[in-house]
Amino acid sequence: MDGLVDGRLAVVTGGAGVIASSVCRLFAEHGARVLFADVDAERTAALTAEITAAGGYAEGVVADLRELSALQALHARADELGGADVLVNALGHYLSIGPFVDNEEDLWQQLYEINVLPVLRACRLFVPGMQSRGWGRVITFSSVEAIRSAPFMAVYGACKSMVDGFSKSLAVEVAGDGVLVNAIASDKTRTIQTNFLQIPTEYEHLVPTWIPRGRYGEGIDNARIALFLASELADWMVGSTVLADGGTMAAGGWYRTPARWTTQPLLHQYFEAPEANADRPRSLQ
Ligand SMILES: NC(=O)c1ccc[n+]([C@@H]2O[C@H](COP(=O)([O-])OP(=O)(O)OC[C@H]3O[C@@H](n4cnc5c(N)ncnc54)[C@H](O)[C@@H]3O)[C@@H](O)[C@H]2O)c1
Repeated sequence: MDGLVDGRLAVVTGGAGVIASSVCRLFAEHGARVLFADVDAERTAALTAEITAAGGYAEGVVADLRELSALQALHARADELGGADVLVNALGHYLSIGPFVDNEEDLWQQLYEINVLPVLRACRLFVPGMQSRGWGRVITFSSVEAIRSAPFMAVYGACKSMVDGFSKSLAVEVAGDGVLVNAIASDKTRTIQTNFLQIPTEYEHLVPTWIPRGRYGEGIDNARIALFLASELADWMVGSTVLADGGTMAAGGWYRTPARWTTQPLLHQYFEAPEANADRPRSLQ
């Protein structure tokens, strides 16, 4: 065991999700006690059993974290266990996809209640204890959609931007107390709420077109970054948003075809209808 978070108590919201469960497993492997909460009872029980069977400490709580009382209960339990050293705000969801002009106002509220409010509330509850103990880590899951545009997910993107901006300001407020706040902007990670798991195998060879790393991300890819941010190694990280995206942000509008990198991807022409290329200029083939 490397013990990068040895003896720490880590609280993880949305903890039975794909990225968050990887965080829980990896933190436990590195010596942390993990207290997590998720609305899904089955996956919460399974993750608790798995980490415990592997010799780690995990306590899973079934809760709807949109409720303030659920976060208060989580905080009270963390205090019984000695106080949280690390808070991982992993809960978040895009909820639905569609043109902004078709959004009902109710959806904006739901997006706020699952992506923003639990982050603010959890920080309000957990950060003072970290300040008084002189050591703490807060890691909040943002998104590349907080930084670039998010067409058809405009309000989700805006919620993640808010979380990102909040994280930076809080980081500056509390860094002097030994509490380091940073964010992780994920992209293209195979999880329950993303549909990358269902990509038909005949399309898998196209993945390097839009992900420079050449593959989809897994929970563990994000968890390793979270582990770094939770550890002593991140002592100089204050208010950063770390990309966990396999290069999609760096690529910007660039896409890889078999022959070149292009900002004008013509996926159908390049990959699906070679016969259509026959009469095209060489530059478009
Ligand atoms: N997967 C990606 O590519 C990606 C991209 C950008 C941002 N993110 C962010 O990463 C974080 C983790 O997401 P993921 O992709 O691993 O998702 P996931 O769907 O695998 O996990 C989400 C978890 O949240 C739980 N949950 C949902 N509503 C809840 C509630 N009200 N109370 C408690 N738990 C609840 C679900 O049961 C699930 O276990 C999120 O904040 C997400 O916005 C992920």
